Amino acid sequence: MTGPSTVQASEPDVVPEFAYRRVTRRFRSEADQEFVALNDVDLEIESGSFVCFIGPSGCGKTTLLNMSAGLLPASGGSIHFRGEKLKKVNTSVGFITQHDNLLPWRTVEKNIGIALEIQKVPRKERRRRVAEVIDLVGLTGFAQRFPSQLSGGMQKRASLARGLVYEPSTLLMDEPFGALDAQLRLNMQNELLRIWERDRKTIIFVTHDLDEAILLADRIVVFGTRPGRVVHVEDVPLARPRDLAELRLDPAYGEIWERLWKLLDHSSPAEEKS
Ligand SMILES: Nc1ncnc2c1ncn2[C@@H]1O[C@H](COP(=O)(O)OP(=O)(O)OP(=O)(O)O)[C@@H](O)[C@H]1O
Ligand SMILES: [Mg+2]
Repeated sequence: MTGPSTVQASEPDVVPEFAYRRVTRRFRSEADQEFVALNDVDLEIESGSFVCFIGPSGCGKTTLLNMSAGLLPASGGSIHFRGEKLKKVNTSVGFITQHDNLLPWRTVEKNIGIALEIQKVPRKERRRRVAEVIDLVGLTGFAQRFPSQLSGGMQKRASLARGLVYEPSTLLMDEPFGALDAQLRLNMQNELLRIWERDRKTIIFVTHDLDEAILLADRIVVFGTRPGRVVHVEDVPLARPRDLAELRLDPAYGEIWERLWKLLDHSSPAEEKS
């Protein structure tokens, strides 16, 4: 399917968490040429749903998250958050960005607690909540380390903890588990599903990994390139709770996997340039 895709909320009068209306974003390239990074995105994200964005490098996934967090304006169209047009930074969402930006002069504990400090959460409660998420992401014993004393995967987990600690009702997650080893990744996926099933946050989760998308999502939005756009929206009606090992044996899983695999653009960025 080509052109814009729309995910309808299950009940028409329910206000979606995000409504993207013909959203376009243009940038200038290094050669000062204007190009369309994201074209005509028409999409709704239902409140409380777990939605994965998947697509090749450069198709505009991060750009759309940046716009959803209100950090980047659209060049055309509009984004509505809980019915209100987004015009400034969206302080209601937690944003776990693709690139770590832990503050090098703060310990792990102080990096993770930063949003709670800003919210003036009392010190005792802050310490308790920070300790909880440190355990959750497997960084027990590393609270007093500085970012430079951590491995890449540990830094990734610390920034994940920082996004989780203040318990936002909406989470934007940009490839949060990409740098983790397979076992830890599985643990974190299970933990995230557990948190989501408990709190029913709305989660938009960007991944390159089709298995991860099917394991986690209610809906998968497939992006294509040249220009970046939505090419398909897939519902994932597999029963929950899900177990990746068991899920793979389900024929419905195989059907979704095959369909999306064919839709994904597998050309490498080098091929794109030629
Ligand atoms: N601030 C910017 N200035 C100029 N071009 C940009 C800017 N931000 C993104 N782009 C370009 O817009 C396109 C989409 O980038 P984006 O980072 O959204 O892709 P992505 O889908 O997140 O890719 P990846 O999977 O590699 O993270 C790319 O061609 C990128 O080079
Ligand atoms: Mg990206």
